[in-house]
Amino acid sequence: MVPPSRAVTLLSAAVALLAVWGYHALLLPPPPKLCGTPGSPPAVSPRIRLHDGRHLAYRESGVPRAEARHRVVLAHGLVDSKDFSLSASPELVEELGVYFVCFDRPGFAESDPHPGRTVKSAAMDIQELADQLGLGERFYVVGASIGGYAAWGCIKHIPHRLAGVALVVPGINYWWPSLPAGLANAAFGKLHPSDRRAFWVARHAPWLLYAYMTQKLVTPSAALAGLPDIFSRQDQEILGMLGFNTTATVEQVTRQGIHESLYRDLMVAFGDWGFEPMKLADPFPRHSDGGSSSSSSAVHVWQGGEDRVLDPEVQRYVARKLPWVRYHECPDCGHLLVHKEVWSNAILRELVLGPEQEDDRHKSSCAAAAA
Ligand SMILES: *[C@@H]1O[C@H](CO)[C@@H](O)[C@H](O)[C@H]1NC(C)=O
Repeated sequence: MVPPSRAVTLLSAAVALLAVWGYHALLLPPPPKLCGTPGSPPAVSPRIRLHDGRHLAYRESGVPRAEARHRVVLAHGLVDSKDFSLSASPELVEELGVYFVCFDRPGFAESDPHPGRTVKSAAMDIQELADQLGLGERFYVVGASIGGYAAWGCIKHIPHRLAGVALVVPGINYWWPSLPAGLANAAFGKLHPSDRRAFWVARHAPWLLYAYMTQKLVTPSAALAGLPDIFSRQDQEILGMLGFNTTATVEQVTRQGIHESLYRDLMVAFGDWGFEPMKLADPFPRHSDGGSSSSSSAVHVWQGGEDRVLDPEVQRYVARKLPWVRYHECPDCGHLLVHKEVWSNAILRELVLGPEQEDDRHKSSCAAAAA
C-alpha cells in the first residue's frame, strides 16, 4: 500500500501535470504565423523595419508624399487594417494637398505581432513610421474607434511631433479611474452582454481571454462577431452599402492569428494605459511660444449621437474635462460616421485648416451638430 503522504504527493503531481497540459491545450493561443515566413501568408505590401526588428506594413494614399502640404498618419479600428481611410472626396484631398499613410497595427494583416504592445508602444510605432517615411517634424494623427488609444497615446507621449489630432469615435476604457462610477457603469451596462463579458475578461483575466473568445458555449463578443444589434440603423445601412462581411474581414485581417491582433487589442484598450485622457495637458498650448505648432493645431473628437458601440455620454464627459478638445457630434450618426463623405470631409477640413478657415457651408453643417 502506498503511504498516505506518498499518495497525496502523487495526486498533487498528477493534478499539476493536468493543469499544465490544460493550460497549454485550452488557454494558450497557437503561436502567430508571421507573414513572409515559410508556410505563412506572404507580405506583399511595403513594410518598414522598426528598431526592435518588427515589420510594420503600410499603405499610402492621397497626394504624393513629397508634394503634400499636410501629412496624416491613420490608426485603424478593430476589425480593420491599413485599408482604412477617411471617405473624404478626392477633390478635397487634392485641394488641401493631403498625404495619408495607414498602417497595419501590430499583429494585423501584414504587420508583425507585438505581444508586449501598450498604448505607449502604439504611439512610438507611429513616430517611427513617420520618421522612416520622412513625414517631417510634425504630422497629423487620426485614430478611429479602438485605434483611438494610439492617438491618445500620441497626445501623451509625442505631443511635440503632432500637427493636430482627430479622434474619430475613439474607444472608451470603462476602467479609467477618474471616470465617475455611475457613468462608467451605465455605459458598460448598455453594451451587449457578450461584450460586457469579453471586455471584463480582457481587463481582469487577460490570460483567460483566448480560451473565453474561442469557447463555443456562449457568443464570445457581439462586437467581434459584427452582430447587427450593436449597430445603429444608419450604421447598418452603411455596412449594407459597403457590402461589408465581418467574417471575411476578420479572416483577412487576422491571417497571422487572431490573438495578437484582435484579442491583444482588447487587452491594451481595456488594460492600464499608464495615463488617463482626462488628465492630459493641452498638446498645443497657444500662450507659450515654445512649440512650432500652427494656430490650426488642435485635438478634435468626432462622435455619433446614436453610436451604440461607444456611449456618447462618456465621450461628452471626457471632452468636457478637456477644455482644449474640440468636440463635434453628428446627432443622427452611429459608430461608422467616418464612412459618410460629408463627415470625413468635415473631419479633414477641421484637422488641417482649423476652425478659423472653415468655409461657410461646412460651418452651417457643423453648427447644428456641435455640442
Ligand atoms: C462572408 O464571408 C464568409 C467567409 O469568407 C463566407 O463564408 C460567407 O458566405 C460570406 N457571407 C456573405 C453574406 O457573403
